[in-house]
Amino acid sequence: MKKSILSLSMMGAVLALGSSAAFAAPDWSKVPKRDVQVFHAGTASIEWILKKSDHSGRTGLVKGESCVGCHEEKSGLNFDMKKLAGKELEPKGAPKTMNFPVAVQTAYDASNLYVRLTFKAPAGGVDPADKENEVKAAVMFADDKVTLDSSGKPVAGAQVGCWATCHSDARTMPGADEKKTKYTKAGAYELMQWKSAKGAKAVDGSVSDSRKMEGGTAGVQATGENKGGTYTVTFTRKLNGAVTAGKSVPMGIAIHADKATGRFHHVSMGYTLGIGAEGDIKATKQ
Ligand code: HEC
Repeated sequence: MKKSILSLSMMGAVLALGSSAAFAAPDWSKVPKRDVQVFHAGTASIEWILKKSDHSGRTGLVKGESCVGCHEEKSGLNFDMKKLAGKELEPKGAPKTMNFPVAVQTAYDASNLYVRLTFKAPAGGVDPADKENEVKAAVMFADDKVTLDSSGKPVAGAQVGCWATCHSDARTMPGADEKKTKYTKAGAYELMQWKSAKGAKAVDGSVSDSRKMEGGTAGVQATGENKGGTYTVTFTRKLNGAVTAGKSVPMGIAIHADKATGRFHHVSMGYTLGIGAEGDIKATKQ
């Protein structure tokens, strides 16, 4: 027993994927896949979303509808990609591939949540500024205090996914402060990220008054591999904080492909993750 744990952790060290592998990984062949489309959202920040003259969906949103409810169809997303890639919403230039699917699998046991993402990372980005990481993959979970609208009509994290953190004055938005990161006006998100650079540490962070890429208490571990352009990224994190059993937790995904940084990622809308509860995506009990 001792020996196998030792060799497992040595394997982790040799692969240098930032994980000690000291957990019981789920049998992924028994965990269903749910395809989630990620897309290039340009500069369509939460301010844009909530401005009725820009986005007629605002009316439904404040009545309680979700982004997914209006924009996800069986065949994929119903966005006008030409509009999203156009000068008005994307002044810097849009990536060649505006959207692609990420297969999401989730499982949990008494102490951990496991998330596995499988996707083909497209080339053809417009801002290959990350010199170290070809690809990064992130997942954010909202707590139940995330709301958007100060007019007394709250728009909840479960409806808007990560948009509550996405403001037009954040770095890499046109004309914005280079130091200002994602933030929320109310509530917080837990953030985990895998980076493809050799030996890169998994990010266990959060977004509240600013984005913090460390200091989380979820004990995030992440491993990933690239097999002929198909990435498989597996996260393990504790069930604690916003992410606990018996809950339906708002969750969103972001992939930085082709060395992208800042807002030049492909993002998902918001989905709920049911951990022993209802959800768009249901975690399989191990
Ligand atoms: C009640 C339905 C509804 C909801 C909820 C909704 N939208 Fe929309 N959205 C629309 C409609 C209709 C359009 C196209 C016309 C327009 O721009 O007003 C649109 C347009 C867009 C566009 C521009 C691309 C295009 O196809 O025109 C983006 C980006 C977008 N929505 C994102 C979001 C996001 C992100 C959310 C959640 C925070 C959201 N929407 C919620 C109905 C909705």
